[in-house]
Amino acid sequence: MEKVVSGIRSTGNLHLGNYFGALKNFIKMQDDADCLFFIADYHSLTTHPDPTQLNGNVRNVLSEYLGAGLSPEKSTIFIQSDMPEVAELYLLLNMHAYIGELERTSSFKDKVRQHSENVNAGLLTYPVLMAADILIHRATQVPVGKDQEQHLEMTRQYARRFNSKYGVEFFPEPVAYNFGSELVKVPGLDGSGKMGKSTGNGVYLVDSDADIRKKVMKAVTDGGPTEKNSTPPEAIENLFTIMSLVSTPEILSQFRGAYADCSIRYGDFKKQIAEDMVTTVAPIRERIFEVRSNEKYLSEVAAHGAQKARQSAQATVSAVREIMGIKRF
Ligand code: ADP
Ligand code: TRP
Repeated sequence: MEKVVSGIRSTGNLHLGNYFGALKNFIKMQDDADCLFFIADYHSLTTHPDPTQLNGNVRNVLSEYLGAGLSPEKSTIFIQSDMPEVAELYLLLNMHAYIGELERTSSFKDKVRQHSENVNAGLLTYPVLMAADILIHRATQVPVGKDQEQHLEMTRQYARRFNSKYGVEFFPEPVAYNFGSELVKVPGLDGSGKMGKSTGNGVYLVDSDADIRKKVMKAVTDGGPTEKNSTPPEAIENLFTIMSLVSTPEILSQFRGAYADCSIRYGDFKKQIAEDMVTTVAPIRERIFEVRSNEKYLSEVAAHGAQKARQSAQATVSAVREIMGIKRF
């Protein structure tokens, strides 16, 4: 059986990029594989969140996992910092991670550009901690969005390097995985390439119906097609991509057809996307609010998940210690 591990950082509420790029795949995979899903709160520390808000952020993401359909009966759901073994594996893997490689990682270069005042070592070694998250359970598949591909490549590199350095076949090489097709990149509604938390162009799983409608109706468009069968510009193609995620294939092809023969009306196009988005999000939002208010349930899920996750983590860490020659006196 495949072993699946993935996580999302607890830096705010989850948006549709997180949902379609990651969470929806978590939910689909939990029926067929041995799955562990966690909330990456250690990773969120790289950008120094307010300590008084950290726990609330973790609780929000945990209720979003559960509200969207992750089941603690089917999957192991836990908080990264509840499994301290990952910090030890991170330390041990750091010995095999070269600075040059880390400095060339695109996510690191982006962060250096975005906040040059906070280029800390945690940020540089972010991919090593991510590799530790995955390798500690010796996972084979990692459901993530397209932006995480490079991190997965680095994880495979560390697994290979470790195996070859010590002459073992210990770590499998995990692959980035999307259920049934290519890795997903959900565009923003502002004509930009990617929906993201930091870019402020997101539709969130907890947004009200009115907020969703307002955000979609404000999406960037243009003057409309003037030539038959022309290729839509990026902002319009982005809306088609979003429609392909929330609407039926029939509706998508109807609007594709209307674009091709220049009869499309952007007002109707956006209204359709907004209504289908509301239909997707509203039931999830209601369940999120329901679980979020149940403190006892949330803490039981986290405690149970941590206990299960630590079993597989402890086995890996003690094997790695032995392979690297660390012995108890
Ligand atoms: P953000 O970019 O908003 O900070 P994260 O980097 O925390 O989001 O991403 C969490 C997960 O959601 C990752 O698996 C990532 O690949 C996925 N993800 C985030 N944004 C998108 C997007 N626009 N399209 C597809 N997947 C995404
Ligand atoms: N880096 C991932 C992100 O930004 C979050 C993450 C941390 C992760 N550790 C992981 C994803 C391990 C998959 C597996 O979304």
